[in-house]
Amino acid sequence: MNIIKNIGLGTAAIGRPQYINIKQEETTAPFSLPKFKEKGLQILENAYQSGIKHFDTSPGYGIAEDLMIEWLKGKNDSSIEVSTKWGYTYTANFDSNADTHEVKEHSLEKLNEQWEISKQLLPYLKVYQIHSATFDSGVLQNETVIQRLHQIRKEHNLIIGLSTTGSNQVEVLNEALKITFEGEKLFQSVQCTFNILDQGILKVKEQLENLKGPIIIKEALANGRLIPNDSYFKYKKLYEFLNQLAQKYNVNADAIALRYCIDSFKKAIVLSGPTNNRHLQSNLKATELTLTNSELEQLNAFGIESETYWTERKQLQWN
Ligand SMILES: NC(=O)c1ccc[n+]([C@@H]2O[C@H](COP(=O)([O-])OP(=O)(O)OC[C@H]3O[C@@H](n4cnc5c(N)ncnc54)[C@H](OP(=O)(O)O)[C@@H]3O)[C@@H](O)[C@H]2O)c1
Repeated sequence: MNIIKNIGLGTAAIGRPQYINIKQEETTAPFSLPKFKEKGLQILENAYQSGIKHFDTSPGYGIAEDLMIEWLKGKNDSSIEVSTKWGYTYTANFDSNADTHEVKEHSLEKLNEQWEISKQLLPYLKVYQIHSATFDSGVLQNETVIQRLHQIRKEHNLIIGLSTTGSNQVEVLNEALKITFEGEKLFQSVQCTFNILDQGILKVKEQLENLKGPIIIKEALANGRLIPNDSYFKYKKLYEFLNQLAQKYNVNADAIALRYCIDSFKKAIVLSGPTNNRHLQSNLKATELTLTNSELEQLNAFGIESETYWTERKQLQWN
């Protein structure tokens, strides 16, 4: 079987039917939980059969973590690696009109409660992350939480990581990477937003590449904004260039956007987070090409300020 090293499967979309992104293909069929589960398990299997070894999940992604636990029971492959997180609880109960889709809580109680479930992912679980560490939640200053993460790391030989979101990812990373235990950084893996539009974390690239654990890249398609569409006239030139490259390499634009991330962070695991096999296979075409330096530079020029990126991101709806 072909082994894919630089793309992992992000499971947010297979665990909850609504998410903050651009959906270009509307589904009109009524929601069925059994069918949704079946489809989710099928995507996990398709990704695995296609050579994906890294799977990223979270209790905040609806039933995704439970699906992972169930799916792993049928596997006996020590090359599978899972990253999960703690800190978000899914509350929408599959209702697209829910007032609140998720609740964030970075307390010791929440960590202990979610760890009791997530530890069922062992021995495949390799990376345990704080889900969306921010200055607001105070998690990086919470000594009891930090101590507990250190304890979990020691007991289970895990890599502790954090995911970051928002225009100040770099500041949060700098703060987190100062935390040490026994002369070693506590956080040895990060999961960050990086894509053609928000290239902010390039500022700390070297620091991230020196960590022991993986750099995981999320939102490589800017939640669908990098799939050429009619809603963002301002990205017309970028879309034209993506389409031009897609034609040259005989892939779709999504594969070019994902490849941009792979070629920018050679050691990273870039997440593909599709809801169907067609999108998954289209994303995986990113493994079949390499962008030239000149193409990378031209794509770099389409970067926008992180502030602008995240302001636009906040306007996306749960759908
Ligand atoms: N730590 C965190 O806070 C955090 C936050 C966000 C995401 N994540 C992780 O990152 C993963 C990926 O993130 P994401 O889903 O937000 O971002 P993304 O990869 O930037 O965007 C995914 C969007 O692109 C669309 N897409 C993909 N391939 C396509 C194709 N060939 N044609 C048309 N549309 C296509 C998907 O549509 P379909 O849904 O129709 O396939 C979906 O709407 C998640 O699953 C999760 O594991 C983590």
